[in-house]
Amino acid sequence: MTDLTGRRALVTGASSGLGRHFAQVLAAAGAEVTVAARRTDALAETVALVTAQGGRALPVALDVTSPESVAAACAGAPFDIVINNAGIALDGPALKMPDADWSRVIDTDLSGVFRVAQAAAARMVAEKVGGSIVNVASIVGLRVAGNLSAYAAAKAGVIQLSKALALEWARNGIRVNALCPGYIETPLNAEFFASEPGQALIRRIPQRRLGQMRDLDGPLLLLASEAGAYMTGSVIAVDGGHLVSSL
Ligand SMILES: NC(=O)c1ccc[n+]([C@@H]2O[C@H](COP(=O)([O-])OP(=O)(O)OC[C@H]3O[C@@H](n4cnc5c(N)ncnc54)[C@H](OP(=O)(O)O)[C@@H]3O)[C@@H](O)[C@H]2O)c1
Repeated sequence: MTDLTGRRALVTGASSGLGRHFAQVLAAAGAEVTVAARRTDALAETVALVTAQGGRALPVALDVTSPESVAAACAGAPFDIVINNAGIALDGPALKMPDADWSRVIDTDLSGVFRVAQAAAARMVAEKVGGSIVNVASIVGLRVAGNLSAYAAAKAGVIQLSKALALEWARNGIRVNALCPGYIETPLNAEFFASEPGQALIRRIPQRRLGQMRDLDGPLLLLASEAGAYMTGSVIAVDGGHLVSSL
């Protein structure tokens, strides 16, 4: 039921980390994957990884903060799977957060998700094809962590946005769900998690380990494929129990 043969997927933020991994997972399940981000040299590496495993991937330059860029990336034949994964996290105390940093996080992590979902859904509706949109939020959109106020607000917004779009677009056969990873080890954060503060954080996760990117494969394929046909407006946490850690 998780076979994606014949499906066209768009993965934003596919030039590194989770997005690069998601592109490989969807391609391995049979989808043709368009990989999108600002750094086209890094996208070429993603394409090479997908191709090396026998999959099909196409790169497209995308800045989710630009409506024109989003419109260009979503023009043409509609995608029937959209993984809204592009995001940034700027940390720091709220009292010292410059207005520009607040705006940049909200513009990328919340407004960017809306822009891509809107442009992709408009093509699905025009061509009368259904589809699945998976918005990558975070457990920080459900609980808070220190010094991440803009990120937490943006991710909470992504969760509520996913529900609102699920309601509006169910009649068009478009499912919209939110995937909320906990702390997942990627090349960018591996150094932090090896440090003592990082190890202390891991001890607070009930499963006493970080998530690995492969831990997201099942939930991603469930939401993207027909296996999740009756799921829309759902919020799935994949966090080793972090959200239910003891008070
Ligand atoms: N890693 C975790 O533990 C974790 C946990 C919960 C949620 N998440 C979420 O998962 C997603 C991916 O995180 P990650 O850890 O893989 O981070 P990452 O390695 O920093 O990747 C972020 C991706 O977003 C892209 N991006 C950033 N700004 C963009 C823009 N304006 N337009 C288009 N693409 C943009 C980046 O590509 P370019 O720079 O090339 O544009 C990059 O490919 C994020 O939404 C993050 O909030 C991650």
